[in-house]
Amino acid sequence: MVKIAVLGFGTVGSGVVEVIRTNSESISRKAGKKIDIKYILDIRDFPDSPERHLLTKNIDDILNDDEVSIVVEVMGGLDPAYTFTKRALLAGKHVVTSNKELVATHGAELLGIAKEKNINYLFEASVGGGIPIIRPLNQCLAANEITEIEGILNGTTNYILTQMIKKGKTFQNALQDAQEKGYAERNPAADVEGHDACRKIAILSSLTFGCHIDSNKIHTEGITKISLEDVEYAEAMSSVIKLLGFSKKIGDKIIARVSPMIISKEHPLAGVEDVFNAILVKGNAIGDVMFYGRGAGKLPTASAVVADIIDIVKNIDRNSRMIWSTCEEEVLIDIGETTSSYFVRVKTDNKPAVMELITKVLGDCNFISIQNPKTQDEVAFVTPEKKEKELQTALNDINNHSFVNTVYSVIRVKNE
Ligand code: HSE
Repeated sequence: MVKIAVLGFGTVGSGVVEVIRTNSESISRKAGKKIDIKYILDIRDFPDSPERHLLTKNIDDILNDDEVSIVVEVMGGLDPAYTFTKRALLAGKHVVTSNKELVATHGAELLGIAKEKNINYLFEASVGGGIPIIRPLNQCLAANEITEIEGILNGTTNYILTQMIKKGKTFQNALQDAQEKGYAERNPAADVEGHDACRKIAILSSLTFGCHIDSNKIHTEGITKISLEDVEYAEAMSSVIKLLGFSKKIGDKIIARVSPMIISKEHPLAGVEDVFNAILVKGNAIGDVMFYGRGAGKLPTASAVVADIIDIVKNIDRNSRMIWSTCEEEVLIDIGETTSSYFVRVKTDNKPAVMELITKVLGDCNFISIQNPKTQDEVAFVTPEKKEKELQTALNDINNHSFVNTVYSVIRVKNE
């Protein structure tokens, strides 16, 4: 029998308890031992819950109990999750988590403690919800040099964009739906501003490149500025808009970013809809491999958490050697030095002059128009490939002309 404690009885925590109760027999069979939930920590009371006899508000009940060998941290946020996790690891207890913010911020330190103590800090559920991605990267694809990772890493924003694309829903209505379905973070700004996807691409990058990629330094844009007109322009280009996390190794440096991208409908990530996530990995032996599944929600996330618990029970006496160190030097390439094509809209009352200016400043652009009265006073186009810093200089130049009212909706376009 292995005794565990669950920290946090919210969406994921209650899902973990439910999965362990529902699949108890098959889980015990696969783990080789029965898994028993001894405590659930939460500051709230749950008087009607059948689990209320397990509830405690005091972390010391758990940390001082030698019978508890695995702590499941599904509280989210940095504080007090960081302190509780560190104390649990230092007390020699394995920790499993779905907390991407904590892993992205303190992963190197917490993995270091786990290694030192010969225990495990596992976080399969922190990226891609129920999709297996951490373990495949660490084990099944271990023979490869991973050169590139690109993915839809946030279920809430993918749900919102899908609703905008398929149903013409406004951003606000679609966000409210996602919140009601339990996909969104406590503060949905973390979803819609791209921070959640940024933490996930930071974790994947750190894991594959072997040193801690600071999520605060990754260029991050969300989807709050994407309008239904942008969606319509993308449709006119036989494309869709997706929020993509991207990480690519170039020599001993890395490009990493999160941003909306216009991608062709032919691209494998274009058909990934609703709350689904997908992660496309390029390895130097395997080529392209794609992981797809439910990226958010109670039971999918719990499924990944419980899989980590089972893994620990099977390997209770050893560290899984999943580790990344602190980077010795800055490995992130400055976003201004990276290259892309861009979709741009310019408001003007003199379209011919703007088109001439754009061609002069940016080279041969592909002009696009849609049949929407809201766009009749604008010029929209896709630029050739440019460095980001060159694009910014060109757009500032364009903006300085009297016949240009505003330059807006700058969205990267994926060409391959
Ligand atoms: N808010 C996150 C999402 C939850 O929408 O993907 C899963 O990490």
